[in-house]
Amino acid sequence: MRILTGIQPSGKLHIGNYFGAMLPAVQLQDKGEAFYFIADYHAMTSMTDADTLRSNIQELAIDLLACGLDPAKATIFRQSDVPEVNELAWILSTVCPMGLLERAHSYKDKVAKGLSPNHALFAYPTLMAADILLYDAELVPVGKDQKQHLEMTRDLAGKINDRFGEGTLTIPEAQIAEHTAVVPGLDGQKMSKSYNNTIPLAGGKKAIRKSIMRIVTDSTPVEEPKATDGSTVIALYKLFADDEAIQQMITDHQAGGFGYGDFKQRVFDAYWEYFSQVREKRESLENNLDYVNEVIAQGAQKARAESSKVLDRVRKAVGLR
Ligand code: ADP
Ligand code: TRP
Repeated sequence: MRILTGIQPSGKLHIGNYFGAMLPAVQLQDKGEAFYFIADYHAMTSMTDADTLRSNIQELAIDLLACGLDPAKATIFRQSDVPEVNELAWILSTVCPMGLLERAHSYKDKVAKGLSPNHALFAYPTLMAADILLYDAELVPVGKDQKQHLEMTRDLAGKINDRFGEGTLTIPEAQIAEHTAVVPGLDGQKMSKSYNNTIPLAGGKKAIRKSIMRIVTDSTPVEEPKATDGSTVIALYKLFADDEAIQQMITDHQAGGFGYGDFKQRVFDAYWEYFSQVREKRESLENNLDYVNEVIAQGAQKARAESSKVLDRVRKAVGLR
């Protein structure tokens, strides 16, 4: 089974990305032939600074490897290393009704937030469909927010097959991360870089501790019992701590006599311990960028070997060859 997913290099990774996207990707690389890519063309729909984009791409390549993606198992590559994806996106756009794009939630949400839309943002779903279809992907693990984009991908592939012949494109299945919990941010809302409420995946001890100390709590005095339901401190602690420590945290909330500063320190200690391996791997990769860049270059070669087969097939089917 061929598994494919992409992640945008649009900012520093946070622990919501880790639990929601990276960890599932690492687990899936043993279940099939995995393709993971850095969606750098996509990131251009929201980023305008070239140096920032360049550095985000490098950082994301490091993160993918630090989190446990293994180049011996998975093909790890950069979207723009296979620019042919734009050709397939063009071909798909010739069967894509305007109404389909006009109905895209992600596009409508961004416009509603005041972003002045450009053509790339509008056409985003055709490029995303091309990302998937260019590799004959069968399974695409994504977050709930990407569900509609996957439906559009299936829809476009179906239109190509209807018009130019069954088997021209492989219709993918989405694997929606319904069971993956939404990681709460420091303020209790969904953790997201857009809400400035993240705990980063990488960073110095002081900076991480400082962000964890910003977790929003109520003003129950130290000596009194503290609410456990809906507690962001406990929800985050559950991600890192073992069962016994979690139980202790809950008991201490109920008993009173412990302040939130103490609880947050426990969250920090558990975070620091939990990510120690990722951190060490990251540090070693930062000092070995040649290796990281070599992995990405080899990934591009493997990706292109697959994409050229599909593109040949499509060009012939549609009459370009
Ligand atoms: P952000 O919301 O910070 O902009 P993205 O939309 O770039 O994050 O998400 C990248 C991946 O991380 C997606 O697969 C998404 O489902 C996952 N993800 C992002 N935030 C969370 C979260 N708070 N909890 C679980 N998964 C998340
Ligand atoms: N749109 C996805 C996101 O914002 C990233 C992405 C681009 C993607 N192309 C993809 C995900 C192809 C899966 C398959 O998270």
